[in-house]
Amino acid sequence: MPLSVSQRLVSPLQEWYLSHHRSLPWRDTQDPYKIWVSEIILQQTRVNQGLEYYKRFITYFPSIKELAEAPEDKVLLLWQGLGYYSRARNLHRAAQLVMEQYEGVFPKTFEAIRALPGIGEYTAGAIASFAYNLSHPAVDGNVLRVMSRITACALPIDSNMGKKELSQAVVSLLKSAHPAIFNQALIELGALVCTPKKPQCSQCPIAEHCALAGTPEVERYPYKEKQITIRHRYLNYIVLSSSSGYYINKRGDNDIWRGLYEFPLLETEQATDPKDLAQLWQEKFATSWTEIPSAPLFEMEHKLSHQLLHIKVYRAVQSADTPLGNPFQLVSQGQLSDYAFPVPLAQFIKKHRE
Ligand code: ADE
Repeated sequence: MPLSVSQRLVSPLQEWYLSHHRSLPWRDTQDPYKIWVSEIILQQTRVNQGLEYYKRFITYFPSIKELAEAPEDKVLLLWQGLGYYSRARNLHRAAQLVMEQYEGVFPKTFEAIRALPGIGEYTAGAIASFAYNLSHPAVDGNVLRVMSRITACALPIDSNMGKKELSQAVVSLLKSAHPAIFNQALIELGALVCTPKKPQCSQCPIAEHCALAGTPEVERYPYKEKQITIRHRYLNYIVLSSSSGYYINKRGDNDIWRGLYEFPLLETEQATDPKDLAQLWQEKFATSWTEIPSAPLFEMEHKLSHQLLHIKVYRAVQSADTPLGNPFQLVSQGQLSDYAFPVPLAQFIKKHRE
């Protein structure tokens, strides 16, 4: 079943765009060449940085002819810093094709534009609609986010099904829209109001037509299939000093930091009070502390690809000299640097070297 979306949002969104959009040089023109160049640059970078590249590129190559006739080295030089040089090469090659096949006149149908090297579905839709006002959707990441929120679409936007349904919803809206304005308006709404984090629903011109505006769920959209869930872990390290040094142990094979060294660890499900840590310590190691630390010596959050580690390091003193047995070993302060510690613990050691 197609996603449900109200045609009544078209007009307020277009009006909002006309009075609120950022003035950008590729918006003051209907020249398909300039629009094309801007779209390829904006695939590489944000608007602020893209502006300088765009101006430079258009100054050197004001039309397709100059670009087609330029040496490739010059084109690549102007692209320097943007990365993905294949995009610049495709731009160059496509300009030469337009010279050869269309006598330098940019093609005027979606299909012919789409057939040029380096021009995908989105870019072809953007050029066809912005330059010629053709009724084709231009669905980039901004538009997927906006549309997924308006329709509360639970299909992941990184799936073919999700992209297809959301594009079809845009196609249905285009029936009563001015394509050039409407497509730009969706992009602009995504950039200025319906932002990934903290969308400003109270400023949104189409909030009343949006399924999620002003709700706590709005930030959870769009869904992504390959969304990574971050696991929070609370690692409380206890640096037990004794006259002969510090206890450390080698980490096992089945977790992060395989084979690296660490101090005795109490991992908890959530942030834990030091008094409770003393209790946990007793249960785990059957020894106790004379002094319960009130605050950690060192604290940091450490990000791994799928985990956020909340690390606290405490210093404690054992009540009796019952040594910790296996797998712990005692090393002197000076020897600590002979062992490989995970980055956060190495930072702690460096900071607290006496
Ligand atoms: N991002 C992609 N296309 C854009 C455009 N035409 N204006 C602003 N941001 C964009």
